[in-house]
Order: sequence, then structure tokens, then C-alpha cells
Amino acid sequence: MGLLSGDMLGPLAVAVLIFLLLLDVMHRRSRWAPRYPPGPTPLPVLGNLLQVDFEDPRPSFNQLRRRFGNVFSLQQVWTPVVVLNGLAAVREALVYRNQDTSDRPPPAVYEHVGYGPRAEGVILARYGKAWREQRRFSLSTLRNFGLGKKSLEQWVTEEASCLCAAFADQAGRPFSPRDLLNKAVSNVIASLTFGFRFEYNDPRIVKLLDMMEDMLKEESGLVRQVVEAVPVLLRIPGLAAKIFPGLKAFMALIDELITEQKMTRDPTQPPRHLIDAFLDEVKEAKGNPESSFNDENLRLVVTDLFSAGMVTTSTTLAWALLLMILHPDVQRRVQQEIDEVIGKVRRPEMGDQALMPFTVAVVHEVQRFADIIPLGLPHMTSRDIEVQGFYVPKGTTLITNLSSVLKDETIWEKPFCFHPEHFLDAQGRFVKQEAFIPFSAGRRACLGEPLARMELFLFFTSLLQHFSFSVPAGQPRPSDHGVFAFLVTPPPYQLCAVPR
Ligand code: HEM
Repeated sequence: MGLLSGDMLGPLAVAVLIFLLLLDVMHRRSRWAPRYPPGPTPLPVLGNLLQVDFEDPRPSFNQLRRRFGNVFSLQQVWTPVVVLNGLAAVREALVYRNQDTSDRPPPAVYEHVGYGPRAEGVILARYGKAWREQRRFSLSTLRNFGLGKKSLEQWVTEEASCLCAAFADQAGRPFSPRDLLNKAVSNVIASLTFGFRFEYNDPRIVKLLDMMEDMLKEESGLVRQVVEAVPVLLRIPGLAAKIFPGLKAFMALIDELITEQKMTRDPTQPPRHLIDAFLDEVKEAKGNPESSFNDENLRLVVTDLFSAGMVTTSTTLAWALLLMILHPDVQRRVQQEIDEVIGKVRRPEMGDQALMPFTVAVVHEVQRFADIIPLGLPHMTSRDIEVQGFYVPKGTTLITNLSSVLKDETIWEKPFCFHPEHFLDAQGRFVKQEAFIPFSAGRRACLGEPLARMELFLFFTSLLQHFSFSVPAGQPRPSDHGVFAFLVTPPPYQLCAVPR
């Protein structure tokens, strides 16, 4: 009490201020290194927090890119950040320097839901043994439970039939397809992780999707940036629960689902799904303190696969249907190809892709145009490196502006238009494009890419085989400008699905 009274307050305030300024100078000293990327001057303590609109950083990044070039720096409070733009810079960092750019910034903001040194999940895991172990496990388990095999294809195809039946129930009336797409895609992940699918009217899937939506909203905005830069703030009692209610609720539901699977598990039988396979690994790792196979990590790995695998694919499908109602000529050409190669009765198969260059080009162009993860996921340098001649010190957060590559004006003929010809040659054959990187690149690139590709092709062709989609009569033509909330979702819209 006595210490904080009267005459002492002034000098104490000055001392705290000097301490903060010294800390600030210490944190920004890397900026004075020769060849450090240019960027806007950071304010004391706040850095560039007020100079970037974190509700949607894309326009601010575009302006900064025009001013400072393809590699520019920012200071988020005390975290040094370098933003990479354009194919050359992104590829150099993620592919050629992948050994030193595959770390993630410490996920301190998630400690309140169990992230810690022994449990890091996959997506946010630091680059090291635990990440390698879990990435390999996720990939191989997904493969063993069907990824790349016929059985998963059958799963997706059967789910596509359920989705078509649910679309048919709308009986040509205008509706928003978002909810049904979310449920269908969730069911594919649910089958892989829990071994069952939800009926579309199961209250648990409704709850799961609501929570997922809340969780995504919590991933962007200024408050999120502030606690990320100063995670110690989350030690204020009650603050984490207030800022991340969706994440907490989502993980509680995942816990319930995992417990259910543990109770019905028969250890004498082969694993039924990813959770069983993980529990087998936990048993094997008993007594090994180095292992990342433990109960705490199981819930994080399942949450990661669920959250990364669900909303990304369903958002892309929502974009695909929006673009079909906005471009009826493209829709007709896809349907013509479906009719010629698959017909009206047989279910689409992955093998059909080889004979359907136009449809494959359309799916690629949907992903390029929709550009749903425009800023990728943050990486961190684990060593001092050079990118495009600039010095980027160890411990710098890297933001890979995937959007700047997917919409690069020097590469794409019509970067801001939906133009399937970007992926077709003069003879109408499908052509790969190096700048097509919606799944990112390098060691941390999306591990669910094969599954996502399978879902996109099979759901899309199944829907277009059975329905013609249009803007409902009397409704205005929806816009094709996305809404940024970490992911870029299409604007809310309705469509009519008329059986063919
Ligand atoms: C259209 C669908 C999808 C898109 C556009 C997409 C895109 C991405 C992107 C951009 C990243 C960040 C890569 C980086 O850090 O550089 C990522 C990471 C990841 N994705 Fe996907 N993804 C999709 C579907 C899926 C699916 C279906 C799954 C799982 C079943 C999945 C699981 C993951 C995981 C686990 C990571 C983290 C990888 C790591 O850190 O090692 N994704 N994805």
C-alpha cells in the first residue's frame, strides 16, 4: 500500500514506461539489421497493430505490397512478422527453404484448451518430432481407413447420394445449400474419425456445426491479434472463456464423442477408425515420455482433423454452386461432360476425371477464384534465412499470402474473374499450373489434399448429374465477393435445385 502511494507513483510510472520502451527496442532490434524487409514504421509497444485491419487484412496487405514490395515486414506488438507475396517469394520460402520455415509460432493462445509441450495436435505443432509423428500418423491412418483406396471413395459416393436426396427434398424451392453441404462433408470426417455418419437431423451435428461457426469467428479480428501477441493476457481469470467460447464448446463435444468411442472399443478387434488406431499407439507408447501419443493429444488431433477437414471443403463446394448459378454456360458444359462420360444413372468415380478435363478445370478454377484461405496458416523461421535477398531472422512469423499467388496478375490471364480456361490448353486438355497453391506448399502443406480433392470432385459431379441450379426467380443475382472471417466464405445466397 505504502509503496504505491503519493510521491512514489510518478517515478514508478516513469520506470515502467522506460522498462516497456527498452523491451520494445529490444524486440524490434532485428529491424535495424541490414537487408531486413521494409515495412511501415511500428508504433512503440503496439507495433503495426493499428495499421492493418485485422477484420480483413487483405486490402491492407495489398496496399503495403504496392508500397514496400513482395517481401515486407510488420511488428505485431513484439512479434516480428514478414509477409511474403507472389509465387517467387512464397515458393522460395515454403519449398526451397522448407527446412527452416516449417515451424509454427508458439500456440500460446490455445493453452487454455490443453495445448502444451506434450500435446500439440498437428496443425499448430512446433516443427519437430511430435509434429512429424502426428503428421505421419494422420496421413497413414487416413490412408489405411481408405484415403486413396476404393473404400473411402465409396464412403464419399454414398454420402453424395444422401446429399442429393436431401437436395431433392427441397422440391425446387429456394434454399441455402450451406447447411447440407456442411453436414455431408462433416460426415466424411466423422466416418474416418468416429466410424459413423450423423443423420442430417441429428441434434449433435447441428450443435457441432454451430460451434464450428463460432470457433471460426474467433480466429480473426483485433482482439485475437492482441492476445496472440501478448498471450499472458489470457491468464486473466475468465478472459479465455470469454474470447474463445466456441472453441471450448467444440472441444467439449469432441471429448464426448471420443469417450463414446472409448467405451465401445474392443481391444481384441482391429481398429475401427482413427481414434482406435491412436489408442493402440498410446498403449504402445506407455512409459515413453518422449511420445506424442497420449490422451490429451488425441483430442487435439481429432479437433484438428475435424476443423481443418470440414469447413474448408464445404466452403469450397458452396463457392462451386454459387459460381454455377452465376455462370449457367459453365454449368451446362459440365453437365454435358457428365452426361457423355458418366451418364445419368451410374455414380461418378474418381477414375472419370481422366476423361473430364472441363469439369476438372472448373473445380480447380473454383478453388483458385474462391481463394478460401488467402493468408495461409502462419509459419515461423527456425533459423536465420534469406528470402528474395532479404534477411529474415530466426523466430520471425511468416505470413504466406496465398491469395497474391492465386490472383497474381502476372500469371493468370483474368486473375479476378471466374475463368475455367486458366486450366485448359487450346485443345481443351487440362493443364496444371504451378501457381495453383490453395493447399499451400512444402512440408506443412495440407495433409488432407487427396481427401479434399476426392470430395470436391465426387460431391460436385453428383450434384450436377442430378440437378440444374439457378438463381431463384425474382431474387437478385448474388455477388461473388467473399466474406473474410479467417476463411473466405461466399456471401449468403439461395438457389433452386431442379431435378434433371
Ligand atoms: C478444399 C479443402 C482444403 C483446403 C483449401 C486446405 C488448405 C490448407 C492450407 C492452406 C493449409 C496450411 C498449410 C501451411 O501451413 O502452409 C492446410 C493445412 C492442413 N490441412 Fe488442409 N485444406 C483443405 C482440406 C483439408 C482436409 C479435408 C483435411 C483433413 C482431413 C485437412 C487437414 C489439414 C491439416 C491437418 C493441416 C496442417 C498440416 C501441418 O501443419 O502439417 N485439410 N490446409
